[in-house]
Amino acid sequence: MTTNAALLERRTQAVPRALTHATAAYAARARNAEVWDVEGKRYVDFAGGIGVLNTGHCHPKVMAAAREQMERFTHTCVQVLAYEPYVALAERLNGLAPFTGAARTIFFTTGAEAVENAVKIARAATGRGGIIAFSGAFHGRTIMTSALTGKTMPYKRLFGPFPPEIYHVPFPVAHHGVTVADSLRALEYLFRSDIEPGRVAAIMIEPVQGEGGFYEAPAELLQELREICDRHGILLVSDEVQAGFGRTGKMFAIEHSGVEPDLVTVAKSLAGGFPLSGVIGREAVMQAAEPGGLGGTYAGNPIACAAALAVLEVIAEERLLARAVVIGDRIKARVRAIAQRNDTLPIGAIRGPGAMVGFEIFRERGGSEPDAEATKRVTARAVEEGLILLSCGVFQNAIRVLVPLTVEDSILEEGLDKLERALAA
Ligand SMILES: Cc1ncc(COP(=O)(O)O)c(C=O)c1O
Repeated sequence: MTTNAALLERRTQAVPRALTHATAAYAARARNAEVWDVEGKRYVDFAGGIGVLNTGHCHPKVMAAAREQMERFTHTCVQVLAYEPYVALAERLNGLAPFTGAARTIFFTTGAEAVENAVKIARAATGRGGIIAFSGAFHGRTIMTSALTGKTMPYKRLFGPFPPEIYHVPFPVAHHGVTVADSLRALEYLFRSDIEPGRVAAIMIEPVQGEGGFYEAPAELLQELREICDRHGILLVSDEVQAGFGRTGKMFAIEHSGVEPDLVTVAKSLAGGFPLSGVIGREAVMQAAEPGGLGGTYAGNPIACAAALAVLEVIAEERLLARAVVIGDRIKARVRAIAQRNDTLPIGAIRGPGAMVGFEIFRERGGSEPDAEATKRVTARAVEEGLILLSCGVFQNAIRVLVPLTVEDSILEEGLDKLERALAA
């Protein structure tokens, strides 16, 4: 039998150090919200492969749909020989689009690719170049999406130069001292100092920041952005790669605000573990790019499309939107109780819509100075306890919970017990 240590040593010799790992364990098998490593140790999974597994590891329906497609064929390239699961999935997502009026959907493979293509579509539709994003945002690791990402380390350092005409304004986080008014004033300054609104193609925002720290964009901000976009002919892009597919208790997180975006980027939990991403958008916008301008060899892989159709069925059948609220309330209640204890690390800023729950580790009880070192120790201790737990945040002091929405009650409680032990002072 191989060991985690032996595999880690081989990895260290074979793979560049830029690819980091949140745990030193090597996965052997997984089921719903549980994972076993190559040494047989069992973990409760609060990471879901970074928000990919809202329907859990290896959901039987998703696996059956993928297996059935795999028996037929695995690849034709949709631009060469198209297939029904692609079209059926586009139809389903057009029906779920978080805006009124006709929609169209096109598929890719990764979240970054969806964001890249949203930029291409927005530019084609407006004839403008500028894109505005937010500090703390994470939109991917390609050159364009790194440029859109609002965090230098480790995403930008060493990788420039980046494409021009990308601008950032501060994302409002109350306990970082940035209000919605501050963000809107910064946007106003940007329009005066760097790029006039008539040259802006799109404003891109995560309705709940993922890697940036699980901060929800206030509805007031989204409403103001919608109004500004309408006034200046700018497109509003909601990056739902991490927040989408039921995580927040709605199919798309922007639905909480009542704001209708023009373009939506999706990936991660869309296909329950198979690589698939997409852009859903208003018909007139989506039709702007010319034939041949969008696509990709692997874009909209048939196995992934079949899996995604099953994911959508599971979300509906198992009422996962409502379940996300129940799970999220349970996690938040438990973390609030832990925060009251005086024998645990100082934690606070417990937040998040539905089951997109985050909280922060501070240097002092009642304070707000981030403690990144303590946060690192918590995620390491969680692994020892048998819990896969991720941190995030511009100050690397936020803990995020991305447990499958299909998690059994007993496994969720077990995971929360482990979390409590990992947070011991
Ligand atoms: C909001 C958001 N957009 C885009 C991406 C990039 O997705 P991928 O890693 O699949 O390229 C991520 C990944 O974490 C994300 O959270």
